[in-house]
Amino acid sequence: MDTYWKKKSQEEIKSIVFKALESNVNYDTQNILGVPASHLDDKVFNQDASFVKDAPFISSLIQNPNHIGCHTLGKSESFFQGTQNIEKDLIKICAVDILKGEPDEQDGYVASGGTEANIQAIWIYRNYFINKHSAKREDICIICSEDSHYSVDKAANLLVLDIYKIPVENDTREIKEEKIREVILKAKKQNKKYFIVICNMMTTMFGSVDNIEAYTNQFTDLSCEFKLHVDGAYGGFYYPFTNENSQLTFKNQNISSFTLDAHKMAQAPYGTGIFLIRKGYIQNVNTQQASYVEGEDFTLIGSRSGANAIAVWMILVKNGPFGWQEKMFILQKRTEWMCKQLSQLDIEYYRHQMSNIITIRSKYLNKEITSKFGLVPDNHSAPQWFKIVIMDHVTIEKLILLIDEIKNTVHNKVQNVDNR
Ligand SMILES: Cc1ncc(COP(=O)(O)O)c(C=O)c1O
Repeated sequence: MDTYWKKKSQEEIKSIVFKALESNVNYDTQNILGVPASHLDDKVFNQDASFVKDAPFISSLIQNPNHIGCHTLGKSESFFQGTQNIEKDLIKICAVDILKGEPDEQDGYVASGGTEANIQAIWIYRNYFINKHSAKREDICIICSEDSHYSVDKAANLLVLDIYKIPVENDTREIKEEKIREVILKAKKQNKKYFIVICNMMTTMFGSVDNIEAYTNQFTDLSCEFKLHVDGAYGGFYYPFTNENSQLTFKNQNISSFTLDAHKMAQAPYGTGIFLIRKGYIQNVNTQQASYVEGEDFTLIGSRSGANAIAVWMILVKNGPFGWQEKMFILQKRTEWMCKQLSQLDIEYYRHQMSNIITIRSKYLNKEITSKFGLVPDNHSAPQWFKIVIMDHVTIEKLILLIDEIKNTVHNKVQNVDNR
């Protein structure tokens, strides 16, 4: 897990980031007259404060590089080449060291978030089917589970594609192969010929992971043309570390792309959704009209902050691959501890074994508890479930307070009712 991903000291990180910033354009010392960009307004953001010299991320924010476009394809805006190279390293770490791709066989960029990365994938595959198979838009559809994130519905709406959802089992959140088959047959009956499949690597509400083989068996068995994107917006920096035998990697030839958000489990600033795709596909969304951008634009977003890419790179190399593994190990242990407490109280919950989300049936909780502990419902108007997400700050000291409260209130009442 360490072709590109090497742990670095703070001094090394500083030296790499400051060198990269120096290789970018300098608005103070060079005559740069044609770019609608500058460093941050120095009346507001003091660039001489002494701490800035020791703070690579703050310095990146202040110098404000624009990482417009996709840098894994060769040509990009030369003004910001220094820091674009850091983004390229980040993409390699994610594609090769985390998701087991072969070196230099993936494209990718730091998108605004999971929503954009999912839309980018669906946009690419829609155009791929149109360009490669002369498909009509009406021939193409999206298939995903009912636990998928709503960004997939946004994509369907924006790209004017029909969407079919596979029901999940209420207790296990699993998708069953026969349900997938039923949905594919229904879509085929409605003249769909090309399928864009979104497979979840940890869902938003349950942390559940879709069985990819259930999808690929059925699509293969029914001789369907499909492209498969993995939505690891939540799980991308978690699941590959808790499941050594994950099927959701670039080793799986049925997968063409991934979303993984650093602004969730990796504690990076918002605006760090990572999009990765096998080489040869992203060209389907090249906007050639972006003629003023050197290297043209293959992304949905346009201008985007280079500081975001630097932040994610800094987080990963500061922890290093073993540090990351240990971080996830601790979160897994805390999650197991919490599950044990809930089981001892006979409280029904869902948890995927490799995940740090625990989703409790709403009948065991009341409004006071859910708001006091900031538990998030599946649905604000008629909640069936509430989730706990075991993040870095969600320690056993905090979890025990919730357990005590559940013991003292609702749990007793539910038991009394059940015993009657
Ligand atoms: C599985 C999944 N996909 C996509 C998204 C969308 O991510 P963002 O809010 O960064 O756009 C989320 C957000 O919670 C998610 O959990």
